[in-house]
Amino acid sequence: MFGKKKEKIDVRALVEASNLRHIAFIMDGNGRWATAKGLPREAGHSAGAKNFKTVVRYCKSIGIGYVTVYAFSTENWRRPEREVNAIMALLDSYMAEAREETDVEFRFIGDVTPLDEKIKVKIAELESFTKGREYRLNIALNYGGRAEIVSAVKRAVEEGITDITEADISARLYTADCPEPDLIVRTGGEFRTSNFLMWQGAYSELYFSDKLWPAYSTGDVDAAVISFAGRKRRFGGLDKK
Ligand code: IPE
Ligand code: IPE
Ligand code: MG
Repeated sequence: MFGKKKEKIDVRALVEASNLRHIAFIMDGNGRWATAKGLPREAGHSAGAKNFKTVVRYCKSIGIGYVTVYAFSTENWRRPEREVNAIMALLDSYMAEAREETDVEFRFIGDVTPLDEKIKVKIAELESFTKGREYRLNIALNYGGRAEIVSAVKRAVEEGITDITEADISARLYTADCPEPDLIVRTGGEFRTSNFLMWQGAYSELYFSDKLWPAYSTGDVDAAVISFAGRKRRFGGLDKK
């Protein structure tokens, strides 16, 4: 009615044209979102978990085959026990719901050994139950990029490899069977990667959003995709003519 009609961008077509296969999210800002509303931080994690489902489904709907989310870092144990327990409880309740995602293969990346025995069983069951499905969702849990590289190197050494190459390490990462992330999005306004996908993200495009994770919308995903589609990825080379 007022002025020009906004042109509708076909985000799905942009995903395809820009070959955006793998998107990763550093889902940051849950605590601040809750605090700003006068709520306990745990309420932010709960809203964040809800939004995670929406965003992941949306990524699938626009044709992105691989999604990785940072849910809990190796450093997040430094938080108060009550908060850590709330995050683990949310994860636990998500396990049952996750099966409703009928076309998603789930993979938990990170060191699950210190987790609760019951959660570990559910993780193993969900991973095997969903194996081979069309879309991939990696949930980074007790994940640290440095720890991941160390564990890959250790495995290579245990296998007797002496002259370790980049390919040897890549093949032993948690994400060995995924393409490297094309785009890493961090919400919450911080300009850092906080130990996320250090190896795989060497040539990822980075996108930072000021939105706090529970408020990060599908329209915000579109904005990140549009930004990505306009980038020139050189991988050290020169622009294609
Ligand atoms: C991200 O939100 C979720 C986790 C790290 C588990 P935060 O809890 O870090 O939220 P802020 O950054 O304190 O607002
Ligand atoms: C990164 O957020 C980890 C997750 C989103 C799970 P943090 O809130 O832990 O990162 P820092 O502490 O601000 O670097
Ligand atoms: Mg944070």
